[in-house]
Amino acid sequence: MKMKIIMLGAPGAGKGTQAIMIAEKYGIPHVSTGDIFRANIKNNTPLGQEAKTYMDKGMLVPDELTVKILLDRVAKDDCKNGYVLDGFPRTIVQADVLKDALSKLGDRIDHAINVDVPDENIIKRMGGRRACLKCGATYHIEHVPPKKEGICDNCGEALVLRDDDKPETVQKRLSVYHEQTQPLIDYYGKEGILKNVDGTQDMNRVFEDICGILG
Ligand code: AP5
Ligand code: MG
Repeated sequence: MKMKIIMLGAPGAGKGTQAIMIAEKYGIPHVSTGDIFRANIKNNTPLGQEAKTYMDKGMLVPDELTVKILLDRVAKDDCKNGYVLDGFPRTIVQADVLKDALSKLGDRIDHAINVDVPDENIIKRMGGRRACLKCGATYHIEHVPPKKEGICDNCGEALVLRDDDKPETVQKRLSVYHEQTQPLIDYYGKEGILKNVDGTQDMNRVFEDICGILG
């Protein structure tokens, strides 16, 4: 099935967790700008070095840089039949660029799924998160533990606590989210493609709700 999906939601709402499940079920790539930046930081590329200065402060990477990376990624062959975008767009500028790029191809986003979780729940989740910087898998020490402690189930890489998951940085990311990204909920509401799901439920229930939307 051909579909282009955007995941919206606060940091820690479960965008990545759900996007990976969507990608697998519908056979489309999971495209996460955060994962792309983290892979570049891990490999110490110039892009990674620049992105890190913003990410560690909980700030957004500048639109210019982010947009270029995203448009290059979705132009790849594996994105022909659609994709699930996780963490992009995050500003109105990014949303407009994506919309224009797609409309030039006579195309558009099909669904914008907002994973709704209040700030109080988010703070609790982040400290327990563990991430695989190699394949992008995400775990939680209580809710979603890996089979073997500290090791990624998929690729065997050691799991880490992300540098931006310190409590002070999480607070900053939440305020950046409310200022710069939350307006996209209205934006896609006006486009008529916004779907809300209750992200405080168990992750499998959240996924059932999403599958109900996507069909
Ligand atoms: P990014 O990597 O996108 O981070 P984020 O938006 O802050 O979101 P997270 O990855 O923290 O959370 P998530 O919603 O994916 O939740 P997850 O599934 O992990 O971006 C990082 C940084 O990169 C940004 O701050 C910015 O600097 C930069 N950046 C990236 N994209 C950019 C862009 N477009 N423009 C500019 N800058 C950009 O789940 C969270 C935890 O909860 C996990 O431990 C998980 O196991 C657990 N969990 C998930 N679902 C549930 C559930 N239902 N119940 C209980 N626990 C759950
Ligand atoms: Mg994520």
